[in-house]
Amino acid sequence: MKRILVTGITGTLGRPVAGVLRSLGADVRGLSRRPGQDFQGDLADGSGLDAALSGVDAVVHCASDTRRLGRGDVQGLRNLLAAAGRAGRPHVLFVSIVGVDVIPYPYYRVKLAAEGLVEGYGGTILRATQFHEFVFGAARIVARMPVVLAPDMPVQPISTRDVARRIAEILDDPPAGRVADLGGPEVLRAPDMVRDYLRATGRDRRTIPARLPGATFRGFRQGAHLAPSHRSAGERWAEFLEARVRGG
Ligand SMILES: NC(=O)c1ccc[n+]([C@@H]2O[C@H](COP(=O)([O-])OP(=O)(O)OC[C@H]3O[C@@H](n4cnc5c(N)ncnc54)[C@H](OP(=O)(O)O)[C@@H]3O)[C@@H](O)[C@H]2O)c1
Repeated sequence: MKRILVTGITGTLGRPVAGVLRSLGADVRGLSRRPGQDFQGDLADGSGLDAALSGVDAVVHCASDTRRLGRGDVQGLRNLLAAAGRAGRPHVLFVSIVGVDVIPYPYYRVKLAAEGLVEGYGGTILRATQFHEFVFGAARIVARMPVVLAPDMPVQPISTRDVARRIAEILDDPPAGRVADLGGPEVLRAPDMVRDYLRATGRDRRTIPARLPGATFRGFRQGAHLAPSHRSAGERWAEFLEARVRGG
C-alpha cells in the first residue's frame, strides 16, 4: 500500500484528492497549519514537514496561499522539496494551472516559478483548468452587482474529483516532469456561466459581457488557459451547479 502525503488537504482540491486516493486503498496523510489533520505544519517556515514526510512514497502538493495570490508559495515549496530530499526523495506531484507560462497574471507567475523548482527536483507537474468551485465562487461575487459584469472570456471548468482521479493515475507511474494538461469536458463562455448561476439561484439580473483591458485578460480572452484537446469525460458545469445549489 502506498503512503501518500497530501498538502492542502483541507482545501478545495486536497479533500477530493485524499478521498479518491483512500478509496483506491492508499494510506493517505494530510498536512494542515491547523490542528485536526494527521500532521500539523507550515510550509512557510518548514515546521512539521520532516515528520509529515517520513516514510512517504509520494506527495501530492495541493497547498497554496490562493487568497494572497500565492504569496510565500515558492519558499513553501522550497521547504517541502528540501524535506522531501531528507526523506529519501518521494515522488512529488505539483498541481499547476493551464497557461501559467503565457498569461502574466501575478499568481500564475508564482505557479510558473514553482513548476521550475519541481522540474529541478525531478517531480511531476499536472496543469489543470479552472475548478467548478472556483468559477462558482467568482460567479457568486460578480452576481452581487445590480447589473452583472462578467469577463468576456472562455472557461473550461473541471470537477476536482476528476482532477483527483487523474492524480491517482499519475501516481501509478514514475515521476514524469510535465504531463499532459487536463481540462474540463466543455469550453463555455464566462457570461453564460454567470447567467446559469443566476438562474440556478433564482435571480433575474442582466449580465453584460465585459471586455477587460490588459495583457492578462487578453491571454484569458484568447484562451491561453484552456486545454481543448485534453478534455476530461467527467462532470459538466450544469451538473455541478445543480448538485451544488440543491446541496446548499
Ligand atoms: N482553483 C482553481 O480553479 C485551480 C485550477 C487549477 C489548479 N489549481 C491549483 O490547485 C491547488 C489547490 O487549489 P485549491 O483551490 O484547492 O486551494 P484552496 O482551497 O485555497 O486550499 C489551499 C490549501 O493550502 C493550504 N495551505 C496554504 N498555505 C499553507 C502553508 N503555509 N502551509 C501549509 N498549508 C498551507 C491550506 O491549508 P490550511 O489552511 O488547512 O493550512 C489549504 O488547505 C493550488 O495549487 C492551485 O493553484 C487551482
